[in-house]
Amino acid sequence: MKKLYFGSNLKMYKTIRETTEYLAELMELTRDIGRDEIELFIIPSYTSLSDAVKVTESNLIKLGAQNMCWEEEGQFTGEISPVMLNELGMELVMVGHSERRHVFHESDMEENQKVKCVLEHGMKVLLCVGETAGEKEYGISKEVLRTRLKIGFHKISSEYIPDIWVAYEPVWSIGVNGTPASEDYAQKMHRMIKDTLVEIYGNDGKNIPVLYGGSVNQKNAEKLIVQPDIDGLFVGRSAWNAEQFDTLIRKSIDAYQKWRDI
Ligand code: PGA
Repeated sequence: MKKLYFGSNLKMYKTIRETTEYLAELMELTRDIGRDEIELFIIPSYTSLSDAVKVTESNLIKLGAQNMCWEEEGQFTGEISPVMLNELGMELVMVGHSERRHVFHESDMEENQKVKCVLEHGMKVLLCVGETAGEKEYGISKEVLRTRLKIGFHKISSEYIPDIWVAYEPVWSIGVNGTPASEDYAQKMHRMIKDTLVEIYGNDGKNIPVLYGGSVNQKNAEKLIVQPDIDGLFVGRSAWNAEQFDTLIRKSIDAYQKWRDI
């Protein structure tokens, strides 16, 4: 069975205590699920990371940071450096989440610098890409995604492929006002993303997992996970309660196994 990826970005939610309680509960609930079957990761707020590392067994849940500066140190008030994340034992850094791009106006070129810096510091990178409602309306989703990927991975050597993950998150599908993408639309975009990764990296590009994110919930998870080019689910709101996330993961694994056995 191919490995299925399940993860959540906690955004600017949960205090340190809430985060550690959530992680402890999620670890216990999912302990019996073989980690050769799934990769489970959680991306808490910066202030919770240090305590999160202490309570989390890294073979059960990988921890990640929500953002990172592309410099090791310097005059970058309010930023967090790769050296600081290495010091905490961080394994993963998310780059280019839609809220970073659209609320904080980060550019593709900046995301590229961050991707490079994360990888050079020995961590995995989760690069998020997605088109806005307007770009979809103009019929340029494919062009936008190709641009995000080609700039995002510009001059990133193929030796780093084992440390690269991608999340497809259409901007119009994220958050309380989002509409989930249909499984057919998501599959179409994932196919195109995978083709672009092959264009960039050759056949080795096929080894990069591509996760779907944006209003994933207990109803649509099963339909999304059985799409041939969807390797995992990147979940926001529906993952922030450990029991609900555990149920979503189990339903998805069951659906995937049934689909594979047909
Ligand atoms: P959502 O968030 O599942 O709450 O839509 C997804 C995300 O922002 O990654």
